[in-house]
Amino acid sequence: MTDDVRDEAEANEAQIAVYWREEQIFQPPQSFVAQANMRDPGIRERFDEAHFPDCFREYADMLTWSRPYEQVLDTSHAPFWKWFVGGKLNACENCVDRHLANYRNKAALIFVSEVEDEPPVALTYQELYVRVNEMAALLRDYCGLKAGDRVTLHLPMTLDLPITMLACARLGVIHSQVFGGFSGKSCGQRIQDSGSRYLITCDAYWRSGQLIDHKEKADIAVAQARELGQAVDKVLIWQRYPGKYSSPTALVAGRDVIVNEVLKRYRGERVAPVAMDAEAPLFLMYSSGTTGKPKGCQHRTGGYLAYVAGTSKYVQDIHPEDTYWCMADIGWITGHSYIVYGPLALAATSVVYEGTPTYPDVRRPWRVAERLGVNIFHTSPTAVRALRRAGPDIPATCAQHFKHMTTVGEPIEPNAWRWYFDQIGKGEAVICDTWWQTENGGFLCSTLPALDAMKPGSAGPALPGIYPVIYDDDGKALPRGSNIAGNLCIRNPWPGIIQTIWGDDQRFVDTYFKRYCKNPKSTDWRDWPYMSGDGAMEAADGYFRILGRIDDVINVSGHRLGTKEIESAAMTVPGVAEAAVVAVADEVKGKVPEVYVSLAAGSKADPAAIVDAVNAACEDIIGKIARPARVHVVPDMPKTRSGKIMRRVLAAISNHRDVGDVTTLANASVVDDIRRQVQG
Ligand code: WT7
Repeated sequence: MTDDVRDEAEANEAQIAVYWREEQIFQPPQSFVAQANMRDPGIRERFDEAHFPDCFREYADMLTWSRPYEQVLDTSHAPFWKWFVGGKLNACENCVDRHLANYRNKAALIFVSEVEDEPPVALTYQELYVRVNEMAALLRDYCGLKAGDRVTLHLPMTLDLPITMLACARLGVIHSQVFGGFSGKSCGQRIQDSGSRYLITCDAYWRSGQLIDHKEKADIAVAQARELGQAVDKVLIWQRYPGKYSSPTALVAGRDVIVNEVLKRYRGERVAPVAMDAEAPLFLMYSSGTTGKPKGCQHRTGGYLAYVAGTSKYVQDIHPEDTYWCMADIGWITGHSYIVYGPLALAATSVVYEGTPTYPDVRRPWRVAERLGVNIFHTSPTAVRALRRAGPDIPATCAQHFKHMTTVGEPIEPNAWRWYFDQIGKGEAVICDTWWQTENGGFLCSTLPALDAMKPGSAGPALPGIYPVIYDDDGKALPRGSNIAGNLCIRNPWPGIIQTIWGDDQRFVDTYFKRYCKNPKSTDWRDWPYMSGDGAMEAADGYFRILGRIDDVINVSGHRLGTKEIESAAMTVPGVAEAAVVAVADEVKGKVPEVYVSLAAGSKADPAAIVDAVNAACEDIIGKIARPARVHVVPDMPKTRSGKIMRRVLAAISNHRDVGDVTTLANASVVDDIRRQVQG
């Protein structure tokens, strides 16, 4: 660990040790236990190390295979694991076709418009089957797409997104959905990296009461991709209101086509699902890392689908008769795994909500839940904190009744957890705090809801078949249950892990395995622990407390932002010589980025104009979520004698912490100047 990083981890640990004591535990309500999918304590033994990797057959058996697999795990090209080798299956068929026999007329997806006057739209499995087939026909026959091609999607939360994803999966086309809130430039970069010749987007969507123009981002994305060397042949545009174009941005003749118009040609078409190798990539999901360039996390078909089906069944406790609402965005991995693929693999009814949870008021989620009869609810600690702040007594007076609630994305403070349990869950619902990452495909730590007690502030024990280890900085494994913080790693491969980083095998090895690999020549999985990049400690009862990132990644509202990405965005502003981004604790969002910039010598730029320009650059290059909480234009950066910017000093100032010993800095006097400027 570098000094900055260690400092940050220690601060986290100290902070959490003060506020998060060993917590009172809660038992799951009997009403939940009585109906739970997984009530057999024998599952722990079934998935213990003696039964690895065969234990994961249990998840693979939840799927329908076109050809059975011959081998569960092949480690011969470590750490490029192969799961369910020799098997063939189609993800779309598993999420749609196979449910027609029993659930043809049951809602697969229910779309809830942000506009409350627009009634919810339920898509039955039969109707989903029809739409997905027609879209697959369009992708195949109009676009000429085939298995292995990549397509970039830049879609908001409407049914067009899961329909497009499943249509791609039906053909074996690799979808790469870019979160709708990301900027056109971000999208263009991902188009280029994935080598997509098609962009699928939409004209507009509702967010916080505004019908936002989305098409304008497509033009920027295509220009950006072209600049980077990737030509886009066609832009396919879904209309938010079919038959009506809702964007002020003009269509580009010859390039832009309206999907719902072209689809008319394919009415009633059926496309046979293509049986794909278990190892064929299913999709890419870009995620931030420690360099400026986002990584294309490449997920496989068989292992991924098996893992999300298994965890949706045992952790989310989804039964076909449940109405399940994950209030995340499908544009993040949470939505891919736990709005689309996991729930649909289990024939669930999954809710797709377009808008902001607090629009037009904070009772909106509970009206949606009541109207649709939602009984499983999944959200982030940030949403919990925001709802609590907006009206701490409101949810208890509303009509929602959940059997199960989830949080994901960031640590939840015990008092926010208790509020979630009492006010939103009314003491009736079990809670799972699920820890995992984009690279993981599905949950890695969580309680099994009918078997394990809940402990506020802890993500719970490792899930079946996941064997964690916490290493110290010298690569020594900490004793289990020692309550000492270190680097959380997973000793074994599991079916949901990414195959590689798209186009960059070396980065895959370096990022996740290099540091703790015991022997780079080994083909034994035991030599290749996966490094999560999170600090954590394990309590005596085997529950993990996640302390946050140990690298240059900030977790804002449960979404990952690379500090380097923000810094590079700030550096594009003329006059800015240096930029440093630090994470600052925020009551609602967990962490928010603050940006420090220094100006080129002799620059006469107006600091207020620089602040505006930095804000604009972050929004333009990355997206609104990267907008800094504050921008400080400082006379100079605190630096080591070797010229390295001391981000930990800036982080201490922004967080009103002691800056520690700064006497060894090359320019110690600037620290006081900055502190006065920032803290007043
Ligand atoms: C990072 C991964 C896949 C989930 C959505 C975010 C943090 C995630 C928890 C949790 C504490 C958590 C970690 C992780 N994180 N879940 N339950 N408790 N921290 O996916 O963008 O890939 O971010 O989110 O720091 O490394 P992501």
